[in-house]
Amino acid sequence: MKQRYYRVRADILDPVAPDRCRWIKDGELVFGRDGTIVHCGGRWDPRGRPVTAVAVPARSIVMPGLVDCHSHLSQYHVRGRGGHALLAWLRNYVFVEEARFRDKRYARTTAKSYYRKLLARGVTSVALYANYREGVLAAFREAERAGIRATIGYTLMDRGVPRPLRQPPRRALAECADILARTADGPHRLRFALNPRFALACSAAFMAEIGAFARRHRLHIQTHLAENLDELAAVRTAFPGARDYTSVYDRFGLLTPRTLLAHCIHLSDRERALVRDRGCGVVHCPSANMFLHSGRFPMEHWRGYPRLGLGSDVGAGPSFAMFDVMRDGYFVNMQSLERLFHLATLGGAAALGMGDVTGSLVPGKQADFLVVGIKESNRDSRRDILSDLIFKHDQRRIEKVFVAGREVFSA
Ligand code: GUN
Ligand code: FE
Repeated sequence: MKQRYYRVRADILDPVAPDRCRWIKDGELVFGRDGTIVHCGGRWDPRGRPVTAVAVPARSIVMPGLVDCHSHLSQYHVRGRGGHALLAWLRNYVFVEEARFRDKRYARTTAKSYYRKLLARGVTSVALYANYREGVLAAFREAERAGIRATIGYTLMDRGVPRPLRQPPRRALAECADILARTADGPHRLRFALNPRFALACSAAFMAEIGAFARRHRLHIQTHLAENLDELAAVRTAFPGARDYTSVYDRFGLLTPRTLLAHCIHLSDRERALVRDRGCGVVHCPSANMFLHSGRFPMEHWRGYPRLGLGSDVGAGPSFAMFDVMRDGYFVNMQSLERLFHLATLGGAAALGMGDVTGSLVPGKQADFLVVGIKESNRDSRRDILSDLIFKHDQRRIEKVFVAGREVFSA
């Protein structure tokens, strides 16, 4: 049987390289029923093949779905709780809330609302932190229902946090093996990851076991690195023999091409070189960094690094909207809007190791895209369009969201 095709006619904005995107006036995006893009550009000749038009409002633009490389599902309810820097903020708001995710029902209803919010804000791919076996399984189940693309990590801790959050390494890894077995046959959109929270929440022995487990199963690893100066001082005390924070993770085999490192604010040149050598994904979280007054991400040291993405870091970041995170990224580092657009799409996808799957609209990739209405833009200038998208939230409206060619949100 012939494959059916779907086409969307609109102006198209698509990242091509850092600092460069293409703007196709009156373009056409075409994808098959299997969710794969077959064309993005000018008008497509179907040559007799069956095509269905996807209805979109007049004057819409089409762009790739946004990629959030760092978010905490279990902090959904404590977003925007201000007044403290990192370590006190974790103690005052976060640990108490995360301990609630052992409750299956709470985990399920929160996951459901969380994904709904992400999709409504145009996020089609997310790398997240969940808590407990029940919380992780609920995150998988609801992600499958929502249709989002997700890297779902188990937040692993065996010290330095309140007792209800601590787990003996052996039991935690047995649960990870169980989760892996239960989710192996799920959709390819969903991946399981190990998330040693940060060096202050994991013993040396636990980190070594996590590194070995991830290597054995080729799993992704997510963690936090060098976010806050008090955190750095505490890591120095906890690991007196270590050369620096980055080498703590490296010693335990946690720095791999499948690792995502959030923040990376206070690193030396040597540490940045190590992160680059290991090929880790680096996640800049500008909203959270400002919210917790952690410091400025030194963008100047990462220019040209292909695996750099943006993270909302909900709940330290108050907003799910990656357009807001892009705006905050602009406020902390002068850069082109094309570059911010790249970070939130193709750069993020590359950081997640999914640059060949999502992040831009090229044939062979999955049809992960947004239909966005912009009110009064000067449509002859991609700079004006990007400026309206990033800075003027009253000008933009996300009309529809697709993941792998399937409509997952409609306004
Ligand atoms: N470092 C360790 N845990 C966390 C967390 O939950 N949020 C942030 N922003 N930093 C962390
Ligand atoms: Fe975080």
